Amino acid sequence: MAVKVDAAATLTALQVMRDAPVIPVIVLTDVAHAVPLARALLAGGIRMLEVTLRTPQALACIEAIARDVPEAVIGAGTARSAADVQACAMAGARFIVSPGYTHAVGTACRDARLPLLPGVATGSEIMAAQEDGCTELKFFPALQAGGLAMLKAWNGPFGDVVFCPTGGITVETAPQFLALPNVKVCGGSWLTPADAVVGKDWARITQLAREASRLRA
Ligand code: 3PG
Repeated sequence: MAVKVDAAATLTALQVMRDAPVIPVIVLTDVAHAVPLARALLAGGIRMLEVTLRTPQALACIEAIARDVPEAVIGAGTARSAADVQACAMAGARFIVSPGYTHAVGTACRDARLPLLPGVATGSEIMAAQEDGCTELKFFPALQAGGLAMLKAWNGPFGDVVFCPTGGITVETAPQFLALPNVKVCGGSWLTPADAVVGKDWARITQLAREASRLRA
């Protein structure tokens, strides 16, 4: 069940995972889209937002949402270095998502007091992240790296770890992932299709968010 936390409080990785069934993976190319997009997702019941560091505008978008949409909880995705983490913290990000795990990224997040969902795709990567204290992990790229079967297999040796599978998941397949005991939330870009963002179709995005916020296992 979703657990709502104080939007202004320092978060744990588990709180990031338990706020809603889906964390939208967002790519923004225009700072002017950031605030209306965040508001559209909020209106649909989704407030944990991952803006990926994949465009030159990403940090400015994170900063705009942090400043103008305080009801949202803005996070940064695609963080790949300590410098990325520090820049995201400066921009106002409240949590960090990374496509893989390195000790440097883990340390930078701890230093910045930001929860981290690091990406893993193998047992060794899970063990490295666990060694540094991470037990809430992103399974990436979920579909390509083994999907449901991989998560079921991991629940044996890594029964103390929970996952946010991301990559190739859709509104139709998310419930199968959410039904697994070691999955707390799914990540996905389907809530924010590029054509809807560029076309400023905020009503469509609210509708996609509403649908996602109601997903159940
Ligand atoms: C990503 O980080 O790009 C995520 O894996 C999003 O994947 P999706 O576009 O398949 O949802």
